[in-house]
This record gives sequence, C-alpha cells and structure tokens, in this order.
Amino acid sequence: MTAEHDAAADREQAVTDEVLASFDRTADPRLREVMQSLVHHLHSFAREVRLTEAEWERAIAFLTRAGHLTDDRRQEFILLSDVLGLSMLAVAINETRAPGATEATVFGPFFVDGAPEIPLGGDLAHGAAGTPCHVSGQVRSADGSPLPDVRLDVWGADEDGFYDVQYPGDRSAGRGWLRTGPDGTYRFWTVLPTPYPIPHDGPVGDLLAAAGRGPMRPAHLHFKATAPGHRPLITHVFVAGDPYLGCDAVFGVKDSLVVAVDHHTAGTAPDGSHAQGAWTSMAFDLVLVPDAAG
Ligand code: BEZ
Ligand code: FE
Repeated sequence: MTAEHDAAADREQAVTDEVLASFDRTADPRLREVMQSLVHHLHSFAREVRLTEAEWERAIAFLTRAGHLTDDRRQEFILLSDVLGLSMLAVAINETRAPGATEATVFGPFFVDGAPEIPLGGDLAHGAAGTPCHVSGQVRSADGSPLPDVRLDVWGADEDGFYDVQYPGDRSAGRGWLRTGPDGTYRFWTVLPTPYPIPHDGPVGDLLAAAGRGPMRPAHLHFKATAPGHRPLITHVFVAGDPYLGCDAVFGVKDSLVVAVDHHTAGTAPDGSHAQGAWTSMAFDLVLVPDAAG
C-alpha cells in the first residue's frame, strides 16, 4: 500500500463516516438502523466496483426512466426488485415455516383491489381468453384441520399471457375472490394459465437483455389466502411440465407449488355442467400457518 493509496482510502471512508453520522439522531430506531446499514453497504458497493461517474449517471438515468414509466397500471420498481431477486429474498426472510405449510412466493405487480366476488364453484374468467380450467382444493391449518370461510383471491393471465390490467379499458377478467366452504374446500373455473414475459419494454427489459436473461415466467395462477388467526399467504400454483420452470425471470418457482394439469375432452365437468370443448383441471391444497407459530 502506498501513502497515496492510504490517503485516498481515508478520504473515501471520511465521506462514508460523515453520512453515517448524519443519521445518528434519527428518532425512529428502526429507520436509523436501516438507513445506516443501507449507506454502509451502498458505499461499500461503490468502492468495491470503483463506480465511475459515468456509471453513476447511467444508473440515475435508469431509475429516472423507471419512475417515468411507473403509474397505477405499470410498476417498474416492483419489476426491478423482482428481477434482482430482492422480492423473493424479502419473502424468504419473512416467511414463517411450519411443517407442511404451503410455501410463499412473489406477489408481482398485477394484483388489483376491488376484483369481483364469485360464488363457490363460480367462474372468474369473466371473458378472459383461454382453455377453461377447473381449480379445486382444500384450505387447512398447519395441524390439518380444515379452514372454512377463508377468503381466496385469485388472479391469472389469459392465453395470450396478459393480465386484464395490461389491456386498455377497465375490464376485470381472470381475477376474483371466493370463500372456502364449511369443510375448507374450494372450487372455481378460470382459464388455463400460459407462460408469459414480464413487461420488458422498459429499463428492466433492457437490463435483462444486456445480461442475456429472458423475461419469461412459467405458467401460474396467483393465490392470496386470508383467514382469521392465520398468517396471510401469497403464493402461486405452477403448471407442471412448463418449459420455463427452471428459469423464471423473477426466481419465484418452488417445487412444492408445481401441480399437474389434467386435460379433458368435451363432456361432463366436475360440477355436472356440460363442457362444450376441451377443458382442464388441477387440484391445489393450501396449508396456512397459525398466527401463534414462530
Ligand atoms: C406476476 O407473476 O404477475 C409477475 C411477477 C413478477 C413480475 C412480473 C409479473
Ligand atoms: Fe403472474
């Protein structure tokens, strides 16, 4: 180490120390802890890669584009968090594991409040294009007891790989919520999910392309289960055999969430109705963690 090198390192450390100290009087102790740790790691990162000013400007331009693209229908910052694996890391950090409990996965940017309620056995496709899919299962607590009256919010993309909110207009399709019956079981119709690319016409897409990474997510349906006395669960069911299960752009796949889809020809469906054409079915049980756990 030369004296010149030491002096440069001291100058850099002095910047970091001054910024860290500027948060010393933060009234909220958790905010102080988070901000000082963020500054510590951000500065270490800049030192480690020897960040150039041109690179810093590029990063600011990237975040500015992300901000300009973000509104109530498009969330580029959630996408960025997702492709960096930060969303799944936050899920892993906060997930309470109980033996047999259903694993959680990424929330994604396409949940919307105010989706319609459907009756048990109803159809939440509401005109979304695709092969009809009958989804059924049971919601249980970690001790195996069935959970009645659990609210299940479900949302999925259509056969073209788009959510309703990605189309112009205010049509609600491919989403809805229902409650489990007295024995904890549920069933509904929707359309068979297909693999789709996350929105990749913005800065996050450019980043994926520069990294030689693809934007695809394997076919899945989103579930949010809310039951009194239990931790809310946000998860997906994935379609077995999907070619993108091993390379999800947002790292959301867990083996326990992959389920086989049965394909059927026209005929009598599980609810006794007559399916005019091809239809599919899948079964997916959900096991929730009681509040008292861990
Ligand atoms: C989704 O599954 O809806 C999703 C998740 C992360 C990024 C984009 C979409
Ligand atoms: Fe999705």
